[in-house]
Amino acid sequence: MSLYDDLEAILLDADAIQAEVRRLGERISKDFADRHPHLIGVLKGSSVFLSDLIRTLTVPVTVDYIWISPYETPTPSGVVRIRKDLDDPIEGRDVIVVEGIIDTGLTLSYLLRNFRTRNPASLKVCAFVNKRAQRIIDLSVDYVGREIPDKFVVGYGLDYRQRYRNLPVLGVLKPSALD
Ligand code: IMP
Ligand code: MG
Repeated sequence: MSLYDDLEAILLDADAIQAEVRRLGERISKDFADRHPHLIGVLKGSSVFLSDLIRTLTVPVTVDYIWISPYETPTPSGVVRIRKDLDDPIEGRDVIVVEGIIDTGLTLSYLLRNFRTRNPASLKVCAFVNKRAQRIIDLSVDYVGREIPDKFVVGYGLDYRQRYRNLPVLGVLKPSALD
């Protein structure tokens, strides 16, 4: 029994992932030359991506994390609970919010509104993958690894019921594994 047995398809293998991460890292390092960006990882899905991304950056960075969960409602509402707030203020900082995946956009749009009130010098978004088909809220995402189809994906930090985060690939979960 392997974690891979539950995958219907592999969208990105480990080499393809590392190539995407390097490409993003080069763009960010270039855009932030002479600056010290402050990366904010959105837990838990961004953790693997963020760990790889920061090691491709050639500019000095600082890192913080935020953890939020949606309130349980029948439909996605964009109302969230902060389970772990930022450790440090972001006033005057060049902030890059790092997300594993953007789906409806509700999570990120909440975070961007929240972070803007804390007066960063600049606020950018970097997402490993983007599922545009489900987007409810129009968002501008500054750095995107890959656009992916409207499928439930796992691996490289992304979970289904807290599982599969440790898969080194990004895969589509079989419908039979979605119980
Ligand atoms: P949102 O819909 O853009 O607010 O995304 C909310 C969160 O749902 C993301 O941060 C992920 O944690 C999770 N999510 C959305 N789509 C997927 C998926 O395909 N696989 C795993 N997690 C997902
Ligand atoms: Mg999740």
